[in-house]
Amino acid sequence: MRQKIVAGNWKMNKDFEDAEVLLDDIYNAQLKYKGDVQVIVCPPTLYLELATDYANDEEMDEAPFGVGAQNVSEYVKGAYTGEISAQMLASMGITHCIVGHSERRKYFGETDKIIAEKINLLLSYSMQPIYCCGEVLEEREAGKHIEVVAKQIQSALFHLTPEEFSNIIIAYEPVWAIGTGKNATPEQAQEMHDIIRKLILEKYGNEVANDTSILYGGSCNAKNARELFAMPDVDGGLIGGASLIAEDFLKIRDSFVD
Ligand code: PGA
Repeated sequence: MRQKIVAGNWKMNKDFEDAEVLLDDIYNAQLKYKGDVQVIVCPPTLYLELATDYANDEEMDEAPFGVGAQNVSEYVKGAYTGEISAQMLASMGITHCIVGHSERRKYFGETDKIIAEKINLLLSYSMQPIYCCGEVLEEREAGKHIEVVAKQIQSALFHLTPEEFSNIIIAYEPVWAIGTGKNATPEQAQEMHDIIRKLILEKYGNEVANDTSILYGGSCNAKNARELFAMPDVDGGLIGGASLIAEDFLKIRDSFVD
């Protein structure tokens, strides 16, 4: 069965001291956690090492949480000032990486082609990409949201083999819901997640489709997570704003109805 996942995307927030407090709170809560939800934290690059220090705690049989980067270079290595490579992330014990986030598409010109390169590199270093897709408001209002998301999925992911694809986590994040306080309704999320799963089924078959975790993102918080996660094809959330407060983030982790 597919994994339930709650991932926190801190974006460009927190100074070092505040990052330490947040990681410490999540770590302590995870020490006591007995549930089956996988927690992933995606802090800014500078704090990844701190996060992996917590995650690699030898007292625990399993890492208390996965550590994800928010970005990776599309290039392998060399003269790319300011970039961080997949090899570097892997060598630091990073397990996941967000790719295709709408903020990177919008402000940093990331195309599906660039995103596909990043995904290939991450997979070659055995890290799990969290692939974000989602339509903007005008596309939804024009009734094009399904077409847009289908194209994003096909052009960034469908070159992968079934084995490669089985390491992909998908996050459906309608852009109009990100940071706006206006989340998609559970029905809107379910409709798109179902469509995404059917696309995967057509391309890769039943087993891969059933095992792919599809997360919802966009103003998901401690109040609305329960009804979103109750939908049959919503396997968890990619959480921005609400992941910056440990108590809220952990409440979201505990929002699955069995
Ligand atoms: P939000 O961000 O929860 O603050 O809306 C989600 C995201 O961008 O991943």
